Amino acid sequence: MNTFTRLFFLLLISSSQAYNKVVSTGLAYDDVLLIPQCSAIKSRMDVSTTTQLTKNITLNIPIISANMDTVTESRMAIAMAQMGGIGIIHRFNSIEAQVQEVEKVKRFTNAIIEQPLTIGPEASIEDARCMMKNNGITSLLVTNADNKLVGILTKRDMWFHPRKITVADRMSPKAKLIVGYEGMELEEAKNLLLQHRIEKLPILKPDGTIAGLITSKDIDQATKYPKAALDSRRRLLVGGAIGVKEDALERAEKLIEAGVDVLVIDIAHGHSNLAISTLMNVKEQFPDIEVIAGNVACPEGVRDLILAGADCVKVGVGPGSICTTRITTGAGYPQFSAVLACAEEAAKYNVPIIADGGIKTSGDIAKALAAGAHTVMLGSMLAGTEESPGLAFIKNGKRFKVVRGMASFGAKLGREVNENNNTKLKDVEGYVPEGIEAMVPFKGSVVEILHQLLGGLRSGMSYCGATSIEQLHEKAQFVRITSAGRRESGAHDVIPA
Ligand code: XMP
Repeated sequence: MNTFTRLFFLLLISSSQAYNKVVSTGLAYDDVLLIPQCSAIKSRMDVSTTTQLTKNITLNIPIISANMDTVTESRMAIAMAQMGGIGIIHRFNSIEAQVQEVEKVKRFTNAIIEQPLTIGPEASIEDARCMMKNNGITSLLVTNADNKLVGILTKRDMWFHPRKITVADRMSPKAKLIVGYEGMELEEAKNLLLQHRIEKLPILKPDGTIAGLITSKDIDQATKYPKAALDSRRRLLVGGAIGVKEDALERAEKLIEAGVDVLVIDIAHGHSNLAISTLMNVKEQFPDIEVIAGNVACPEGVRDLILAGADCVKVGVGPGSICTTRITTGAGYPQFSAVLACAEEAAKYNVPIIADGGIKTSGDIAKALAAGAHTVMLGSMLAGTEESPGLAFIKNGKRFKVVRGMASFGAKLGREVNENNNTKLKDVEGYVPEGIEAMVPFKGSVVEILHQLLGGLRSGMSYCGATSIEQLHEKAQFVRITSAGRRESGAHDVIPA
């Protein structure tokens, strides 16, 4: 659909909107339960969690880590994609910093690294150390002025050495290296790595310049993470958030250049002209990139974003654990009802939706998907893990990590300081927050958390007799419960051990 047609649709839509002051009942996840149904499923492992993130991106697990600065940077995004989901790198940093995070994910695994990072032999060991750290890698190919391979430098070569010596002093020279040739089969490369017990195999063109790099880690990853979410070059999938302000298009462009697989237009009130025009501009300028737009809480918002070009719509206004939007503004919609209504609308266009915020348990994930969502986005449930970038600290002998709403006072102050070194507290005094800073218990690796969440989800699906998320959409039925039902649902009348 071209821009003119989209604009026409949007005009038509806005002129036909009815503004009745309707009061209906909005339900939260805790207000409902899935009704158990006859099931032919013998084992939870027979249940598939494969789903659509967008019209064209498939995931093996329906879980996304939120684009929050205490939740998703490269480490979290790598772990999420290895497990079959995806992480969305937050935008609360400079474009360069966000691009670097995306690049770290895209470089993490490859069938072949087509443009491995290189360094000159005359560079200092300190330069090499910085380059490795900034890019999250453990080796550099050393090339001369003609771009020909002259050696390889790994992290190990740099242990305990003074900063002033050069790369040439510590690298393994080409004469000692095992190299592969352009076009060689992956299996042949794997055999060479095994036979010579080496971790890196530089691939050379006939003229000695570099065609790529194959690493044992990449080959190992494929066996270790068979469900990983990968692009066509076997690199991990990753998303990047952009805003709606001046730098949105530049950020989008740089993220796309870095290889991002999907953009998320991140704005609290996604059913707004600002969000719609940003979405249309992004789609106009970069028609090939998949775009998730949001957040909305009503079917009208879903429809308008889809007509403006969204490949997926993110649903949730105020349900998040660190959100105070509903308290501060009086606006929002209880999340279960929002997902139910929005999913029905999105299904008319065959566009997937994300249930974003308010998920506290694996049971909530099952309910969100059963209500029609294709994926869920998690913030605080993942913020306490090793892979989150949030600050870790000890309080009363227990480990915690920080989590904060992106519209909290602390996040606002952090942003201002990032953008402008001279920011003083008084410059942000007038800010009206719609989120809070908080702490969550340290939970260990996200892999364990995902394992628990997916186990619960698979069980929930089997209670509904559903072997796939599409079947869950079709079959699921809910019962609304009372506060007595809710009390009965948790542990009761015992003293928890
Ligand atoms: P959970 O419940 O998973 O929610 O922690 C994560 C989602 O919350 C949203 N978010 C906010 N909403 N004020 C808000 O009203 C905020 O400061 C804020 N920060 C994050 C966001 O949609 C996220 O994915």
